Amino acid sequence: MGVWLGVALVAFVLIIVFLLIKQLFWNAQLKNVKNKHVVITGGSSGIGKHVAIIAAKHGANVTIIARDIQRLEATKNEILHACENKDVQRVEYLSLDIGANYENVEKAVADLERTMGPIYMLVNCAGTAICGKIEDTTLDSLNKMININFLGAYYCIKAVAQRMKASREGMIVLTSSQAAMLGIFGYSAYCSTKFALRGLAESIAMELQPYNVSVTLCLPPDTDTPGFAAEELSKPLETRLISQAAKLVTPDVVADKLFKDALAGKFFSTVGFEGFILTTVCSGMSPFSSICELLLQASLMGFLRIVSAFYLISFQKIILNCMKMRNENKKSE
Ligand SMILES: NC(=O)c1ccc[n+]([C@@H]2O[C@H](COP(=O)([O-])OP(=O)(O)OC[C@H]3O[C@@H](n4cnc5c(N)ncnc54)[C@H](OP(=O)(O)O)[C@@H]3O)[C@@H](O)[C@H]2O)c1
Repeated sequence: MGVWLGVALVAFVLIIVFLLIKQLFWNAQLKNVKNKHVVITGGSSGIGKHVAIIAAKHGANVTIIARDIQRLEATKNEILHACENKDVQRVEYLSLDIGANYENVEKAVADLERTMGPIYMLVNCAGTAICGKIEDTTLDSLNKMININFLGAYYCIKAVAQRMKASREGMIVLTSSQAAMLGIFGYSAYCSTKFALRGLAESIAMELQPYNVSVTLCLPPDTDTPGFAAEELSKPLETRLISQAAKLVTPDVVADKLFKDALAGKFFSTVGFEGFILTTVCSGMSPFSSICELLLQASLMGFLRIVSAFYLISFQKIILNCMKMRNENKKSE
């Protein structure tokens, strides 16, 4: 009896290891963006800029959308240099505040499709993070994050969805965050907008899948970008200490993974083992991209829930220590 239990255990572990290797390292068949129109919001900086460069290297016609024209102009030149075939590929930019007004976005997208061709891939990367405890978060910051992070993506997707459905092809990427999988101290407004993107992604995945339009939800960890540098300025000590549990990655790594996962039609796009743990433990009723992924989630979820408890306890300790330190500082004043 004991021997058979041992054999079953070893077999289980081997199956899990095989599924893990397959999930993390096996390359699925990728779609092709050569000569197709790829649009990236937030394409003038950080992760979005690197996605635009990768799309150009894959032979796509690329449009980047952001507000600052000087930065757009400079990035357009960088993207042109990256083009696989400079003679035939086109690179354009559009200066637009995507979160201000739906009519403007709808018109801009229609104009863009007339001049650059139908959008085959829409990568929503524009976003911003302003940290602060809920009582310190100004309504201005809250509205800014709702407008850029959530409404901006919603408007752009709404503007392309009907045409993508009609042509029975397309890819939509939403750049959310690991902070869409768990609430974090100091991120009440940011997390809310990024959780909202998850709901949006899951809903449209169900709507668009029958029309051969794939949806990918990218969940970057802390990434070394101008946006991250700006975010650091507003981070409470607790948020900074909790974030230090994970290491900073480079934007090209996130962009490369985002692009490959979108071309493979995967729903979640994550970087590193932590990203895998988070999406596995939080998978719940989320779409699954393969039987292998589903089996891994089903067999690891319970164990990873226990692991997540250790993370949560360590975060609580950080918060209590910061509170103690502040109280002692106050007393000694
Ligand atoms: N970096 C990280 O650690 C990290 C981690 C998790 C998730 N993310 C998410 O990943 C995405 C990219 O982040 P990043 O750090 O690469 O950002 P970034 O370097 O700050 O770049 C943001 C881009 O969005 C554009 N943008 C901002 N507001 C806009 C608006 N209203 N309309 C149009 N474009 C707008 C910016 O250009 P203009 O200012 O000129 O408009 C810029 O091109 C964001 O959604 C962010 O929340 C980042």
